[in-house]
Amino acid sequence: MQICRDLPSLRAATAAFRAAGRRLAVVPTMGALHEGHLALIGAARAAGAGAVAASIFVNPLQFGPNEDLARYPRDEEGDLAKLRAAGCDLAWLPPVEVMYPPGNATVIEVAGPSAGWEGDARPGHFRGVATVCCKLFLQSQAELAAFGEKDWQQLQVVTRMAADLDIPIRILPVPTVREADGLAMSSRNRFLSPQERATAPLLHRAMTEAAAAIGAGAPVAATLEGALARLRGAGFAPDYLALVEAETMRPLAARREQGPMRLIAAARLGTVRLLDNIAV
Ligand code: PAJ
Repeated sequence: MQICRDLPSLRAATAAFRAAGRRLAVVPTMGALHEGHLALIGAARAAGAGAVAASIFVNPLQFGPNEDLARYPRDEEGDLAKLRAAGCDLAWLPPVEVMYPPGNATVIEVAGPSAGWEGDARPGHFRGVATVCCKLFLQSQAELAAFGEKDWQQLQVVTRMAADLDIPIRILPVPTVREADGLAMSSRNRFLSPQERATAPLLHRAMTEAAAAIGAGAPVAATLEGALARLRGAGFAPDYLALVEAETMRPLAARREQGPMRLIAAARLGTVRLLDNIAV
């Protein structure tokens, strides 16, 4: 596995893949890798990538001033070992001053799917995500980019951005990888206390049951209220639980007759904010 930390070496490596006829996929991450991240590499290969480049970059632009940038877990050596074992071809580890050189002044602002939900809870978050993903796409010139459905709104924002800017890249959505008890894998799960960890799977369980009820025709508002009450009773502080149009993220007060719907949630458990979503 090649390791690149500056743009000239990244460009040389990706040019060599192209010259060898290997279709390049990029897998953007912030490190602290788990099986959810590694599934993106497998999915990219299964979708026809002949070479996979994973980036590890804890992007300061997507963290708010009071967010967990400083405590975001970092384990470069462990991450590189996992990438090697997963068959990754290239690790792109840009220092902050390579990604954002002094004097940089351009950001990508995606309206539409950035509005609401995480966009409200984390002002500026999707500007940071869209900007860094746009840069990663252009830096790598990959043909394919794998993103987890775990971060559903992010997946919609990035898909919208790539389409709107005519970036010749295909965004590949990859299903959420879960623990055996249903908890969506996340780098932040390690901050759950043993008791919180035992409670955490209720989020997915309550969502699965609510989605099934809505799918079967139960009233949306009452079903969501019931699930929220259950979560609060178990010690969660929910930020939102909502039924949305899957691509636009617009809230739905009632079932949609046509087109995909998604049940999305964010809930705090102790100091950890858990995100999850499922198809309805
Ligand atoms: P990060 O949280 O490290 O996630 C990197 C990628 O892994 C994202 O596409 C995310 O959706 C996916 N992922 C995380 N947990 C997953 C799980 N349990 N199952 C499937 N996929 C999962 O998301 C980011 O980093 C950043 O915002 C980034 C896109 C890298 C831009 O900085």
